[in-house]
Amino acid sequence: MDLACLNHGNIQFQTIDFEKIIENVEQTLRQDIHEKKIQIKKGLPRTELQGDKDLLESLILNIMENAVRALALDGKIEVKTYGGEKELILSISDNGMGMKEGELGKVLEPFYWVDKSRSRVYGGAGLGLALSKQICDLHHAEMNMSSKLEMGTKVEIKFTTLLQSVDNSEI
Ligand SMILES: Nc1ncnc2c1ncn2[C@@H]1O[C@H](COP(=O)(O)OP(=O)(O)O)[C@@H](O)[C@H]1O
Ligand SMILES: [Mg+2]
Repeated sequence: MDLACLNHGNIQFQTIDFEKIIENVEQTLRQDIHEKKIQIKKGLPRTELQGDKDLLESLILNIMENAVRALALDGKIEVKTYGGEKELILSISDNGMGMKEGELGKVLEPFYWVDKSRSRVYGGAGLGLALSKQICDLHHAEMNMSSKLEMGTKVEIKFTTLLQSVDNSEI
């Protein structure tokens, strides 16, 4: 999957369950989560939304994988949903290495790493967040990131499509 593929692809909207998607992502990352003894705290009072299941799973995998990489031993990830009647906000935060203010604005650019020496430890190809942003755009969702060096990072995604009935339409 790449940016071009996302731009030209048809996306399939259906009713999806975040809880299931997050379970799948945890399963994919289970080895690192186990090795780093990462604690994942979940608060998911709302889990249903209209969206493309595969794309949303890639989105959440990208963000949770970044969180896992940013964490040292015994770190924590918190996954929450909240919001009013017409919106659902998904929040994924970690208490890992964080980023400086100046870096935060650049990480959404394709192929950007905070620094080369760090990216060697951290791994990854630098495309994750650019793709994540595109997946959000395709869902008319807003992605916001906040971060503090040595304190942690929070990604919040605001969805407003949950009441729309757009089953299996092409957009
Ligand atoms: N949760 C996070 N904590 C600290 N740094 C992060 C986090 N998420 C992303 N970053 C920084 O943003 C950069 C870009 O992330 P991303 O686009 O997902 O690429 P990749 O994961 O392939 O490096 C990362 O290399 C990292 O420096
Ligand atoms: Mg990544």
